[in-house]
Amino acid sequence: MPELTCSAKSPIAAKADALVVGTHPVPGGVAVVGADLPRALAARVADLAPALGISGEPDEVRRLPAGSGVKAPVLVLVGLGEPNPDGRFTSEALRRAAGAAARELAGTDAVAIALPADDAAALGAVAEGAALGAYAYSRYRTGPDAEHRRGVRALEVFSPAAKGAAGKAAAARATIIADAVHAVRDLVNTAPNDLYPAAFADAAKAAAKGTGVKVTVLDEKALAAGSYGGLLAVGQGSARTPRLVKVAYAPTRPAAKIALVGKGITFDSGGISIKPAKGMEAMKSDMAGAAAVLHTVVAAERLGLPVAVTGWLCLAENMPGGSAQRPSDVIAIRGGKTVEVLNTDAEGRMVMADALVDAVADGPDLVMDVATLTGAAVVALGKRTAAVMGTELGRGIVLEASEVSGEPFWPLPFPAELRADLTGRVADLRNIGDRPGGALSAGIFLAEFVGETEWAHLDIAGPGFASAPLGYMGKGATGMSVRTVLQVLEDRATAPTT
Ligand code: BES
Ligand code: MN
Ligand code: ZN
Repeated sequence: MPELTCSAKSPIAAKADALVVGTHPVPGGVAVVGADLPRALAARVADLAPALGISGEPDEVRRLPAGSGVKAPVLVLVGLGEPNPDGRFTSEALRRAAGAAARELAGTDAVAIALPADDAAALGAVAEGAALGAYAYSRYRTGPDAEHRRGVRALEVFSPAAKGAAGKAAAARATIIADAVHAVRDLVNTAPNDLYPAAFADAAKAAAKGTGVKVTVLDEKALAAGSYGGLLAVGQGSARTPRLVKVAYAPTRPAAKIALVGKGITFDSGGISIKPAKGMEAMKSDMAGAAAVLHTVVAAERLGLPVAVTGWLCLAENMPGGSAQRPSDVIAIRGGKTVEVLNTDAEGRMVMADALVDAVADGPDLVMDVATLTGAAVVALGKRTAAVMGTELGRGIVLEASEVSGEPFWPLPFPAELRADLTGRVADLRNIGDRPGGALSAGIFLAEFVGETEWAHLDIAGPGFASAPLGYMGKGATGMSVRTVLQVLEDRATAPTT
């Protein structure tokens, strides 16, 4: 995590290796915004922009020699795109610009960021975007390579709002959120030989250490004793045994009680219904939901939200070992419902079902599950947009929060006729439906274990792990859903049941 500070001073005097300012398109060129650059410099940049090929569009990052009147030796121009009619930029435009600049400046020590952020919300957005963009994963790099690949070391965000209490609070919140997202990215990027279910459970204990979050780990013996048939069946083909981890944050007099369930398949080979070799390496990210749930609970505690949050991490490795489950096996989920396993690659819904039963039994106001559940969700919505399903209320709550967080979610339906395909010939349920609408039938399968509780199902199969960088996201793990679920929790603090 980079060091993040804020200042209300003039950015042109900032002691930094680079000063980032914003640009946006105007007829015939670009306007420079965010810092009180010496007039001659601002005019020269604006004049030369067309010849330099600078457009002011989002994701454009250009470095120039700064010249006199600016202390930093390098001036970085980052595109903000068109402003709103009122001349202001959306939080997401600010986050994205700050993030693109921080990401592009990887390897730089100190970066000063001066984007148009005159209130606390805008300051928070710039700080959040910058911190998210400064992420780098170098755990496995040795020697000089490790140095090359580190992110920006220190970020200083300039805004007149930095001196006020609201601005300071927004910056502190941004730091907690970025810490959570970075922690998720670290877990998801970790190689699956290092991150198996027991190791993940240890990581949960480490993350909760020194906080008010309580961690309970059920190992394979406890899972057997509790008849968690889904986790046991999926995990039985691996030498690394499954775990169910409960992480609980329970403030006094909470305004609402929320349950979170995360899919934590530390590697999804498909099992006996094995996946093709091409692209299988990305299945180390099949625990992104559980990682997001873990660090959302920790962040809720750090933010001191007046909402009780319990997370369930469904941890198993889906492998085709000699003791693996077979297509046609029948297993019983926690609580007794039986499932005929017709495809061992539809494992996520089986491990999630066990935990949903416990989560619902706890009597929460709302359950949210986060899972890299289906390739079909990626086919439907592409690699950047996550699907949200569930009850009307649950879906609406997530979509509203997504507007604020900037993480793209889109609703998918539960057409009643798809339920029939899940009715078992041999057992209560089959673990796969018809191929068309695969994201929907996976959700409908989960609904069987949710009952009447308000519920949102977040399928992050596409956006959990990125094949290319964009804005404040680098390649690889993204931390998708942490910011939206945290926003839901913050919203519940004021509107617990609507
Ligand atoms: N983990 C995968 C889903 C996935 C696909 C996540 C691509 C991220 C990127 C999941 O366990 C899976 O294999 N789903 C199957 C379900 C099918 C067998 C019904 C799928 O989507 O093909
Ligand atoms: Mn699978
Ligand atoms: Zn999977």
